[in-house]
Amino acid sequence: MIVRPRRLRSTKAIRDMTCETRLSPSMFVYPVFVREGHNINEDIPAMPGQKRYSPDKLPVILERAVKAGIGGVLLFGIPEHKDETGSEAWREDGVIQTAIRTAKREFPGLTVIGDVCLCEYTSHGHCGLLKGETVDNDSTLDVLARVAVSQARAGADIVAPSDMMDGHTGAIREALDAGGMTGTLIMSYAVKYASAFYGPFREAAGSAPSFGDRKTYQMDPRNVREAVKEALLDVGEGADIIIVKPGMPYLDVLKTVKEAVNVPVASYCVSGEYSMIKAACANGWLNEKNVACESAVCLARGGADVIITYYALELAEWMREGWL
Ligand code: PBG
Repeated sequence: MIVRPRRLRSTKAIRDMTCETRLSPSMFVYPVFVREGHNINEDIPAMPGQKRYSPDKLPVILERAVKAGIGGVLLFGIPEHKDETGSEAWREDGVIQTAIRTAKREFPGLTVIGDVCLCEYTSHGHCGLLKGETVDNDSTLDVLARVAVSQARAGADIVAPSDMMDGHTGAIREALDAGGMTGTLIMSYAVKYASAFYGPFREAAGSAPSFGDRKTYQMDPRNVREAVKEALLDVGEGADIIIVKPGMPYLDVLKTVKEAVNVPVASYCVSGEYSMIKAACANGWLNEKNVACESAVCLARGGADVIITYYALELAEWMREGWL
């Protein structure tokens, strides 16, 4: 007798009925770069198809996000002026605060997530305050808390600290609660590796460190137990959702973390992953739709409840067309 697993693959209807992984547009989060200024809508060369918008131009892309029915948008601010302490990051009418206010005013039902970090705002490009040539963890915490509070005041539904300082989630939770913003969620980058896949993002945000690297605060790609430790700490400090980043090269980490925590886990499919697909497709070496859809499926299968991806809009639109 032949055992026939193939029978379950015999028609699309049966494959769809029995598949183990199901995606929905509501699980996708779309990262958007917002730069200071007016009437700006500029291409990002290393990330074809992605742009930097000034706050006044943001509604165009947000409207597409709302129509696509995705879960939310993750906003990154790029200020005109950078300084040692990243002070533009917490200015009440800074670029990110203005972007958040615009987004919530135009689309009150859209979930808006603010990136909380200093690297886009500091002249040295590091994610925290410096003491000499090293990033000083503890003095950075107060600043991050200020940034988070300013974003929550501007209307952010969720704040997402991507700085990798120890204790960031607890510091932000305390500050939010003290300011009466007990309902603001924290989506913490608990597990963020010192990855070379962030290259295109740093070009997009102008946030490459001017000296050294981020290996003293971001994680070593050789480790996975450390990921569980970081995740449990952030959950203990009050993280509502945790992020594992990057995406596809770290599926083992995603799965391990998912099994260890009792909060939703987001996978961030980062800029380098996006650009690799784009570059190969531009050469005709890969089929963009198929590869992007398969990547999303793999992240969901690996345990992602939420997928942060530069393909969020297309994925949601392709799903409506019956591709996924
Ligand atoms: C800022 C930040 C980075 C990314 C998200 N937040 C860059 C970095 O840590 O250098 C990378 C996102 C991407 O590559 O898409 N700390």
